Amino acid sequence: MNRARHIAIIMDGNGRWAELKDKKRVKGHEAGGRVVKEITTYCSNNKDIERLTLYAFSTENWKRPRLEVEFLMKLLEKYLKDELENYIKNNIRFEPIGDLRAFSKSLRKTIQNIQEKTAHCDGLVQSLALNYGAQDEILRALNSIKNSEKDITEAMLSNALDCKHSVDLLIRTGGDHRLSNFLLWQAAYAELFFTDTLWPDFTTNELEKIIKDFKKIERRFGGLK
Ligand code: FPP
Repeated sequence: MNRARHIAIIMDGNGRWAELKDKKRVKGHEAGGRVVKEITTYCSNNKDIERLTLYAFSTENWKRPRLEVEFLMKLLEKYLKDELENYIKNNIRFEPIGDLRAFSKSLRKTIQNIQEKTAHCDGLVQSLALNYGAQDEILRALNSIKNSEKDITEAMLSNALDCKHSVDLLIRTGGDHRLSNFLLWQAAYAELFFTDTLWPDFTTNELEKIIKDFKKIERRFGGLK
């Protein structure tokens, strides 16, 4: 039976969730942050799951209104600070991916601090994709190895990426059926699950059901049965 060792999630639908409730969009992000915590804790208690990669802020998200971007930055910083204790209690290692150079000094310091303080944890790895875009990740990786004397191999490129781990199960909430520049290299053989549930309404029960369905799939990786 398949094991969902690496789960990746495109957390979409925060804004619509808030609008449906006549609230400001940022309230949806706040509610989304609470779901990040719940889903991460659930995954840390599931021995099959080694890695959870969450799309928290894309290279394209800077195009949003300035106040929404600022809110997301503050929310992220608060989340990381508030969660440090839980990361350690649940033995979760925090590993960001993305180009962190774009963030404020204070946020970068917080990110680095959480990374250092959880470096010894050997349970679930929670990876937040921050200022992340797969095309940008691949370009940065290629630039870092372009002066190699030998031809670039799959393994070399893979090792130069921010995320060096192939994805088993990729979930997108919020009803759209696209990858939005998320883990394009790592998801080459991922099983894709799309749900109409808006991220703030996503539950551990729904995740459990998706994992159950994932386990039944016959994965052939391009080969035969
Ligand atoms: C999409 O909702 C979601 C994001 C822009 C990023 C995800 C952010 C969170 C889950 C909040 C906080 C995260 C952490 C780690 C504290 P959307 O605004 O695109 O929704 P819409 O498609 O309904 O407009």
